[in-house]
Amino acid sequence: MRNIGIGLIGTGFMGHAHALAFQHALSSFTLPVLPRLVALADADPARAARCAADWGFAKSCDWESLIADPQVELVAITTPNLLHAPMALAALAAGKAVYCEKPLAVTLEEATQMRDAARAAGVVNRVGYNYLQNPMLGLARDLIAAGEVGEIVSFNGEFSEDFMGDPQGAFTWRCETGQAGGALADLGSHLLSLSRFLLGPVEALCADLHTAHGQRPHQSGLRAVEVDDQAHLLLRFASGARGALTTSWLKHGRKNRLAFEVCGTRGTLTFDQERLNELRFYQAGERPELAGFRTLLAGPQLPDYAAFCPAPGHQLGYNELKTLEVRSLLEALGGNSGYTGVDFQEAWEVERLAHAARTSSREGRWVRL
Ligand SMILES: NC(=O)c1ccc[n+]([C@@H]2O[C@H](COP(=O)([O-])OP(=O)(O)OC[C@H]3O[C@@H](n4cnc5c(N)ncnc54)[C@H](O)[C@@H]3O)[C@@H](O)[C@H]2O)c1
Repeated sequence: MRNIGIGLIGTGFMGHAHALAFQHALSSFTLPVLPRLVALADADPARAARCAADWGFAKSCDWESLIADPQVELVAITTPNLLHAPMALAALAAGKAVYCEKPLAVTLEEATQMRDAARAAGVVNRVGYNYLQNPMLGLARDLIAAGEVGEIVSFNGEFSEDFMGDPQGAFTWRCETGQAGGALADLGSHLLSLSRFLLGPVEALCADLHTAHGQRPHQSGLRAVEVDDQAHLLLRFASGARGALTTSWLKHGRKNRLAFEVCGTRGTLTFDQERLNELRFYQAGERPELAGFRTLLAGPQLPDYAAFCPAPGHQLGYNELKTLEVRSLLEALGGNSGYTGVDFQEAWEVERLAHAARTSSREGRWVRL
C-alpha cells in the first residue's frame, strides 16, 4: 500500500478540520493511498509545534520548508485567502498535489493563474467545497437528474451566519479587500458552487453587495470595512431556470444556514445545512388530504453515510463532509477520479461568478457570463 506524505499549512478552524479529516479517512475507508502526516506549518511556530504534537504530524516548520520537503507530496492550504495563491503556486511549481481551502483566490486574475498552473503541473488539485460531499445533496442532484422534480423552474439559495453580526465585532483579515472578499467570498462562494452543482452553468447575473457596518474596532482604532457584509443576487441559469441567492454574515441566529429550495414542474426540494441529514421533498399530484413535504432522513442506504455509521438516524456532521472530501482527494491521488470533488477549474468557475457579481453591483447592471 502506497503512503502519501501530507504537509498542512495553517492551524486555525480549517487546519484542525483538515487534520481530523485525514485521520478520520484512514479509519473510515479502504483507500488506494494512505495519508502520512509529515509536516505542519503555521505563522506562529510555537503553535505549529504544539498542534503537530497534538494532531500526529511528524514535525513542524515554516510553509516554504514544508513545500520544499521531498517527503511532502500533497500540500493542504488552510490559511487566509490572500495566501492561497502564493502557497498553491509554489507547491504546484514544486510538482506537489494541492488541496486548497475556498475561495480559490482573492482576485479572478490570481484564480486564473492558479487554474492554469494546476493544469500545466498535471497534478491532483482540489478546493474545499466540502458541503457538496453531503450524501443528501448527492441524493438531491440524483432526484433532479432523474426528473423526479420535473423541469426545474427556480432555485432559491441562502448562506447566512452571524459571526460578524455584532456591529462592534473586531476588524479581522476577512474585512480587507486585499486579504479576502466579504460575505460573498466567505459564504457566498459555497452557495455559488452549490447552485452550479445542482442546476449547472449560470448564464447571467445581477447583484447588490452591501456593507452594513462601515467601521469596526481594530487594535489601531476604528478601521473602515472594505468588503460586503451581505449580497443579494439574481441568476439566470443556462437551462432557463431562474435563481435568487442571499448571503450574509450578519444574520443573528443563523449559524450555518446553507439552505436552498429547488422548484420544478413536478415538485420541490428543500435543504438546510443546519439539519444536514434531512432533505425535504414535496411531490405535486398527491391526494390533497395527503399532500405535504416528506422528510427524507440520511441513513446507511446511502454508502457515504454507511461508511461512518451502520444505523439510520444517528446523523453525519460537518467533519464527516470534510472526511468525504479527503477521501475523494486520496482516491484521485490513487488514480480514481470517480468521486465528487471540486478541482481548480471548477473553483475558478465560482470565482468567475463572484467576480461578475462584484462588477454587476459596482456598475448597477446585469452581467452575462
Ligand atoms: N470549507 C469550509 O467550510 C471553510 C470554513 C471556514 C474557513 N474556510 C477557509 O479556510 C481558510 C482559513 O480560514 P480559518 O477560518 O481556518 O482561518 P483562521 O484564522 O482560523 O486560521 C488561519 C490559519 O492560517 C495561519 N497563517 C496565517 N498566515 C500564515 C503564514 N504566513 N504561514 C503559515 N500559516 C499562516 C494562521 O496562523 C492560522 O492558523 C480561509 O480561506 C477560509 O475561507 C473554509
